[in-house]
Amino acid sequence: MNVITRRDLIVGTVKTTSALGILGPISRALGATPSQTEGPFHPVNQDNDLTRKSPNSPPAIGEIIYLYGEVRDEQGRGLSNAVVELWQAAANGKYNHPGDPNPKPVDPNFQYWGRDITDASGKFAFKTIRPGEYPADATWTRPAHIHFRILRPGFEDLTTQMYFSPENDHEQELLEKDRILNALSPADRKKLIIEFRLAPTASHLEANAKVGFFPIEMRQNRQT
Ligand SMILES: [Fe+2]
Repeated sequence: MNVITRRDLIVGTVKTTSALGILGPISRALGATPSQTEGPFHPVNQDNDLTRKSPNSPPAIGEIIYLYGEVRDEQGRGLSNAVVELWQAAANGKYNHPGDPNPKPVDPNFQYWGRDITDASGKFAFKTIRPGEYPADATWTRPAHIHFRILRPGFEDLTTQMYFSPENDHEQELLEKDRILNALSPADRKKLIIEFRLAPTASHLEANAKVGFFPIEMRQNRQT
């Protein structure tokens, strides 16, 4: 008997959406993905569906997103067996971490972190919630973002952050004023800001789910 795991379901979706043509260009060199600070909330590892803690537990609060991506080398070739970890705030901007001073409540049904391994063509997939913005200090609000760490033998470890293409003036302003994002060149900023669109009606995804594609290029280890 075939046992279908949650990972199979989500990764299976990658093939479906790829066939529908909504993923980004495959195998095109990007220039190395820029690194960003790890931030204080790096967690332990979990699976790649953050919207529930287990298949029969209640769903997390918030807008469901499917975050697909591909880990590539500097020639644009997909890298298999890369470890992709992500961690993020919930829909209300709160991390599940004792170091987060944000007084908002933790969502007890949100997983807050996840992990996937790239397949033979370098693809990875996560089902999660669009995170909320949150105050970094009295004068600075961080735009919605997801932290990533990617590990692959033969390549430099990459820690970075992915941002959401703005959907209104407020989100645009937060991106323009974000001190971490603005530490990068305009070209590098573009690599980290990803557009999410409603899933095609022909797909089997939830009606209001949004889908985005984050291509990641790793730098090969170089002898010094
Ligand atoms: Fe953060």
